[in-house]
Amino acid sequence: MTQKNIILTGIKPTGQPHIGNYFGAIEPALRRSKDNENSFFFIADYHALNTISSAEELKNLTHVVAASWIASGLDPKKCHFYRQSDIPQIFELETILNATVPKGWMNKAHAYKAAVDKNRADNKDVDTDVNMGLYNYPILMASDILIFNANKVPVGKDQVQHVEITRDIAARFNSKYSKNVLTLPEYIIEKDIQEIPGLDGRKMSKSYGNVIPLYGTEEDWHASVRKIVTDSEASHTIESFKATTFYGIYHHIASDEESRVLCESIVNHSIGWKEAKEDLLNKIVKRFEEPSRVYLELLKNPNKIDQILSEGADKVRPLAEEALKLVKTSIGIS
Ligand code: ADP
Ligand code: TRP
Repeated sequence: MTQKNIILTGIKPTGQPHIGNYFGAIEPALRRSKDNENSFFFIADYHALNTISSAEELKNLTHVVAASWIASGLDPKKCHFYRQSDIPQIFELETILNATVPKGWMNKAHAYKAAVDKNRADNKDVDTDVNMGLYNYPILMASDILIFNANKVPVGKDQVQHVEITRDIAARFNSKYSKNVLTLPEYIIEKDIQEIPGLDGRKMSKSYGNVIPLYGTEEDWHASVRKIVTDSEASHTIESFKATTFYGIYHHIASDEESRVLCESIVNHSIGWKEAKEDLLNKIVKRFEEPSRVYLELLKNPNKIDQILSEGADKVRPLAEEALKLVKTSIGIS
């Protein structure tokens, strides 16, 4: 087993990345991978099949997510950057792991459990609209990680359970075959960025349509910022203001000092929600305007993006093949 730090994370092409994805996953992953040539970033397109059923949309969103990574500072020459579907070894490993994973573990995985709970609450059959892709999601995610022996996986809070399941799967496999072939990964979660709220106060998520897009035009950002829910409370204390959805978003973009000043200005009534939102919009524009230009430029040339991803896949496929070979030898198929 390798002792090097191998950082790996993926994003599903299920929508345009938002600032929650950026602060929760993209930025920390890129920061941690600086000066580390062993970083793996990928577009988790097979995971997206659970929600996207239009070929054209999947293709387009793959380009959108790839362009977002690059605009955020990913240099394809300094890391491994690829599309999951270009690495068939991941899916072969998944089939092998299926025989090691107890069904009960999947029953407890949060996405499946949430779907079951919702069906139950709606008085429907528990498995209504649950496909096997959703049910087996943690095993595919484990294969994404284990195929490259990754030991550090930067993710947001909602993905922690999946990395824990990956550890359990690796440990069970190693013990079943009495070989240390699979590396047990650890999740990396940013201490103060566990979950950025969306415009409506729930977790910011592509699936809830409550996002501030990471890259776009000033009009796009303005339209989102306008929709952030605010109360009409006449007075706020520092504590009550810090508990608002607005502040939950604002303080990720502003410095500590700027956040402190904003709190004071709200508490002493020198500004109201309108000015606070303008302030946030200005900060978003300042921070993301330049990379947005890069993003929009890249999207004009999807063939170039495909070429980058395909070259990335060619680079990592031999590594995946090597890892798969070890796994196959250890189970008696080689
Ligand atoms: P979404 O919920 O928008 O579909 P994904 O599931 O594609 O997001 O998540 C991609 C990465 O971004 C994951 O590591 C996830 O934990 C992180 N992430 C998603 N939403 C947030 C958020 N609101 N705050 C912090 N991190 C997030
Ligand atoms: N499941 C992750 C998400 O929904 C995306 C993902 C797929 C991933 N495979 C991964 C993240 C492997 C980290 C490592 O956000």
